Amino acid sequence: MAHGFLLTILLFTSIISPNIHACNQNERSALLSFNLTLSSPPLNWTSINCCTWEGITCNQEGRVTHLLLPSKGLHGVIFTSSSSLGNLTHLTHLNFSHNSLHGSLENKLFESLDSLEILDLSYNLLFGVLPLSLTSRNIRTLDLSSNRFHGPIPSSFFMHAWNLTSFNVSNNAFSSYIPSSICLHSNPLIRVLDFSSNQFNGNILRGFGRCSELQIFRAGHNNLSGLLPEDIYNATKLEEIAVPLNSLYGGISERIVNLNNLVILDLSFNQLSGILPLRLGKLSRLKIIKLDFNDLQGSLPQSLMNCSSLVELRLAKNNLEGDITKLNFSKLVQLTKLDLYRNNFTGKLPTSLYSCRSLKAIRLSSNNLEGQIQPEILSLNSLSFLSLGSLRLENVTGAMKILMHCKSLQILLLTHSFNGEGMPSDDDMVSFDGFRNLRFLSLMNCDLTGRIPVWLAKLKSLQILALDDNKITGTIPSWLGTDLPRLFYIGLSKNLISGEFPKELCRLPALVHELIAAQADQYYIELPLYITNSREVLITYGIRRILYGFPSFIDLSSNNITGNIPSEIGQLQLLQELHLDNNNFSGNIPDQMSNLMKLQALSLSKNHLSGKIPSSLASLNFLKSFDVSYNNLEGSIPTSTQLQSFEASAFEGNPKLCGAPLPNKCRTDAHGKNNRDDEDDGHQLPWFYIWAVFGFIFGFWGVCGSLIVKKTWRYAYFQFTDNVQDRLYAMLAVRMNRMKRWLN
Ligand SMILES: *[C@@H]1O[C@H](CO)[C@@H](O)[C@H](O)[C@H]1NC(C)=O
Ligand SMILES: *[C@@H]1O[C@H](CO)[C@@H](O)[C@H](O)[C@H]1NC(C)=O
Ligand SMILES: *[C@@H]1O[C@H](CO)[C@@H](O)[C@H](O)[C@H]1NC(C)=O
Ligand SMILES: *[C@@H]1O[C@H](CO)[C@@H](O)[C@H](O)[C@H]1NC(C)=O
Ligand SMILES: *[C@@H]1O[C@H](CO)[C@@H](O)[C@H](O)[C@H]1NC(C)=O
Ligand SMILES: *[C@@H]1O[C@H](CO)[C@@H](O)[C@H](O)[C@H]1NC(C)=O
Ligand SMILES: *[C@@H]1O[C@H](CO)[C@@H](O)[C@H](O)[C@H]1NC(C)=O
Ligand SMILES: *[C@@H]1O[C@H](CO)[C@@H](O)[C@H](O)[C@H]1NC(C)=O
Ligand SMILES: *[C@@H]1O[C@H](CO)[C@@H](O)[C@H](O)[C@H]1NC(C)=O
Ligand SMILES: *[C@@H]1O[C@H](CO)[C@@H](O)[C@H](O)[C@H]1NC(C)=O
Ligand SMILES: *[C@@H]1O[C@H](CO)[C@@H](O)[C@H](O)[C@H]1NC(C)=O
Ligand SMILES: *[C@@H]1O[C@H](CO)[C@@H](O)[C@H](O)[C@H]1NC(C)=O
Repeated sequence: MAHGFLLTILLFTSIISPNIHACNQNERSALLSFNLTLSSPPLNWTSINCCTWEGITCNQEGRVTHLLLPSKGLHGVIFTSSSSLGNLTHLTHLNFSHNSLHGSLENKLFESLDSLEILDLSYNLLFGVLPLSLTSRNIRTLDLSSNRFHGPIPSSFFMHAWNLTSFNVSNNAFSSYIPSSICLHSNPLIRVLDFSSNQFNGNILRGFGRCSELQIFRAGHNNLSGLLPEDIYNATKLEEIAVPLNSLYGGISERIVNLNNLVILDLSFNQLSGILPLRLGKLSRLKIIKLDFNDLQGSLPQSLMNCSSLVELRLAKNNLEGDITKLNFSKLVQLTKLDLYRNNFTGKLPTSLYSCRSLKAIRLSSNNLEGQIQPEILSLNSLSFLSLGSLRLENVTGAMKILMHCKSLQILLLTHSFNGEGMPSDDDMVSFDGFRNLRFLSLMNCDLTGRIPVWLAKLKSLQILALDDNKITGTIPSWLGTDLPRLFYIGLSKNLISGEFPKELCRLPALVHELIAAQADQYYIELPLYITNSREVLITYGIRRILYGFPSFIDLSSNNITGNIPSEIGQLQLLQELHLDNNNFSGNIPDQMSNLMKLQALSLSKNHLSGKIPSSLASLNFLKSFDVSYNNLEGSIPTSTQLQSFEASAFEGNPKLCGAPLPNKCRTDAHGKNNRDDEDDGHQLPWFYIWAVFGFIFGFWGVCGSLIVKKTWRYAYFQFTDNVQDRLYAMLAVRMNRMKRWLN
């Protein structure tokens, strides 16, 4: 009777859950002791049948085949040779990606896991060198990316991996050669290879040509040198070759036309030379060509104009030349991004571009182009980024009248594009209605005359306004502070502006209210802006929220502004940089300046400021650049680690000023010795200013060097660290030295 009852229950359970097999008890105890107790929140591994547990799948015999625990907050060291994981001998799929596992991979463990087909350990904290060989003969996918592994990848590693199709070790610290032997050992089934963001060096050796199934080959951001191996052009299934940010040299072989499945070709930031393969355009599937920042020469091959699948064509910073007017872009109907910045193209602005209806971003800056912007540009409905700096354009008023109707336009960079015309005036723009989405306007360095026109007050989306280095006269209009709700960056330096600092400028909504600043949306700039620091080293900003990443900034330096610095300045709580130097300001430095708690740079030099330096300034903890030299300031310099950390030159030219860091002691100093406290980090780094040579950003280079965003290196560094892509760029920045050559 009791037996019968039990039997019924067993039958019953097997009827309702025919696919869930009872758990093998050894596997259950292995799973339990395989200590995942450090997971948070804890795994719900409580019921009897381990095959029903979260992340577990069993086979018919109740052996665990799948252990899929991505993003479960797992901590701990689990890949040791004694790990009970090794008891799960039927495991085929193991996915622990996006956890916090650490420790190294031990050979012994993987000997027991011989059935493993898929192993994904990406995004953990694993470290150490790889075992000599991957013992799992059935492995198909191996993803060790985004960990902390180092050392070489031994060529024996792939010895038994006959079935390997996908191998991703990107974003680690692997070194030595890229293992091109992978295609010798493995069955040529490999489809995906990703070696990016490591420290691989030396040449890319031959061998990949044997991977006849290879579709994706990535090895960007390493220290690879030499030529692209000739045999890679034999891997005709290739769809993506991405080896940017290395030191590859030599030419791109004409044999590349063998790769007729190629969709992505990214060899940017190398030292490639020679001409572009003439028949490159035969690769009819090509969507993305990124060859920017190389030393390529010659003209654009005509065949490229046949490449109707092309979505992105980026050739900035090469030595390409030729009359661009002779190219007919009109077949490139899918083209969304065109970047020819800093080459030596000649001719007029190519009107055939206006037929590329998908265009979102055009940068032709710094070429030998001339002409006027034509109304036909308005057929580019999606155009959001237009950079035409350092060209010889004419008719700025005509250009603005046309472009204001560009409905999607968000970024308009016309730095050094025009020469000595009048600022488009309110009379010119009588029927002004447009620029609804414009966030960033630069008309810097165009020698424009006239006043700041009122039509600018209607640019309600404007965040950055750069009018520096012109011949603008008149006063700063008060509406600048009140009518533009998103404006956080005002560049008016190097003009002929007179009058006083308007109090209304202290009401800039985006700098007064935390709330509005936080509303700054995340907008992805279509093309990276290039910025340099004081050492003339290039840093790439290819990041989201770039505009938001700019410092909040007011620069009125080198004008003829008179009167006091208004005490209302203290309202601009979110201001990070204030440059008022080289003007005629008089009166005291207002005490309220100390409310600018985010201030990182303050320059007041070469004015007629008098009185004492307010002691409250000592509370500006973020200040990294400070200059009050050549005024009439007096008394002792307030004592704080912050102010004393600046060089004496920041205070010189004020005969009545005394105390450290100036050499002259204050006579009235009752305490005798100035009590400099050195309790903080002990040694102050010399501040590296990021001189965002705007010319470079906007496509203008050198000459006046002109308007400069001074920004601390640290600041620039930290704003990169938001996501992985940003991390890449941060690492890029660290390798700045190598990039100096680009600026020669
Ligand atoms: C793993 O297997 C070994 C040998 O079969 C055994 O001695 C050990 O107890 C098992 N460990 C666990 C946690 O089941
Ligand atoms: C897991 O490890 C913790 C300490 O890290 C220990 O307290 C616990 O008993 C272990 N659990 C098992 C099942 O071994
Ligand atoms: C744990 O899993 C069991 C089934 O295996 C389920 O009934 C129970 O609600 C789960 N508990 C939590 C806290 O999720
Ligand atoms: C591992 O799990 C993550 C998250 O579900 C998934 O994105 C990834 O594709 C899985 N890995 C493999 C190799 O299937
Ligand atoms: C490789 O894959 C094939 C087909 O999927 C399979 O038959 C074979 O057992 C796998 N393992 C090895 C070592 O070849
Ligand atoms: C390799 O892994 C990284 C994450 O670590 C991922 O971003 C990248 O797309 C992967 N590569 C391929 C070819 O899938
Ligand atoms: C890069 O490789 C070169 C030789 O090819 C070597 O001199 C240099 O030290 C390497 N740089 C780094 C950062 O590994
Ligand atoms: C490319 O393949 C062809 C034919 O299979 C072969 O003759 C040639 O040697 C290969 N080229 C290289 C560089 O491996
Ligand atoms: C472009 O395509 C047309 C028609 O398909 C062809 O006649 C012409 O030769 C091609 N031009 C080049 C330079 O490949
Ligand atoms: C650009 O072209 C002009 C004439 O075509 C030439 O004089 C000049 O040297 C070239 N500049 C560069 C940087 O190659
Ligand atoms: C300036 O551009 C406008 C708009 O395209 C045009 O109407 C005007 O004729 C141009 N002026 C000159 C002097 O070319
Ligand atoms: C600056 O302004 C003052 C009066 O506002 C004027 O006297 C002086 O000439 C101006 N200087 C220059 C260089 O424009």
